[in-house]
Amino acid sequence: MTTYEKKYIEKIIEEYDAYPNEFLRQHMISLCLHPNCQIQAKRYYKEMQKCSFCSQNILPNLSDSPVGKPFEFELLPKCSPMTISHAYNFHLMKKYSNIFAPKEVSHVVDIGGGYGNLCRLFKNCFDYKGRYQIVDFPAMLDIQKKYLEQNAVTDVDFLPLDMDQLLPKDGETSMLIATFSMSEMPLATRALIEQHLTKYDYIFIAHNVKFGGVNNIEYFKNLKATLSVNFEIDYFRDPHRGLNMWFMICKRRER
Ligand SMILES: C[S@@+](CC[C@H](N)C(=O)[O-])C[C@H]1O[C@@H](n2cnc3c(N)ncnc32)[C@H](O)[C@@H]1O
Repeated sequence: MTTYEKKYIEKIIEEYDAYPNEFLRQHMISLCLHPNCQIQAKRYYKEMQKCSFCSQNILPNLSDSPVGKPFEFELLPKCSPMTISHAYNFHLMKKYSNIFAPKEVSHVVDIGGGYGNLCRLFKNCFDYKGRYQIVDFPAMLDIQKKYLEQNAVTDVDFLPLDMDQLLPKDGETSMLIATFSMSEMPLATRALIEQHLTKYDYIFIAHNVKFGGVNNIEYFKNLKATLSVNFEIDYFRDPHRGLNMWFMICKRRER
């Protein structure tokens, strides 16, 4: 763990311990894991409303729980803006890879799971039945465990980044998700993931343009070139978030 990572994790734990019932409203936690991103959520929501698949299969099932006191999305107060953002990932997976992950994937590796909200959506909102593995730092895994426990979510593996434990089993349809996580790791840590990426059927990455001195555009363009041998890839700037955020959505070519 780098000094920077240690510092932000310490602050997150401090806030969580001081305000367990309102942890999502605390400064560092909100900044890193649960931003009150109303404008962006409105844009995502409006795009999803125009999509018939989303209107029928995604939007009606969305909700938040009171755990941690999430922010309320102004257009749909039963959801937080983060829940809308996470749901938008399902929309993009369907649109570009033609897969509705909660129903058609049987193994999810969620790298850098935040406070556990994506996992909650998979399991509680969409009744996902497959294997779900969350990867994070031990202190973050503790927060995710508590959050998911309070949301009655069970059957989740909470793991450190050890790719040997995260590989798909025969017969599984696998998806590796890394939203704003791989892009925030040192290059040496990313390399541990990179060497196993071709083992997954689907990969969904969201990233910012730079982090910790690394030019992420350059890094992910190179990664795209490498993965293109095995995957069909859509790589594009998030049209709703200015110039700063990018998506890479990969679907394995027929073997
Ligand atoms: C900005 S948050 C994104 C959370 C979530 N994926 C989302 O999109 O809302 C980054 C996440 O990646 C995790 N993370 C960063 N570096 C990591 C590393 N080296 N190993 C495991 N997890 C890491 C952080 O602890 C955090 O959970």
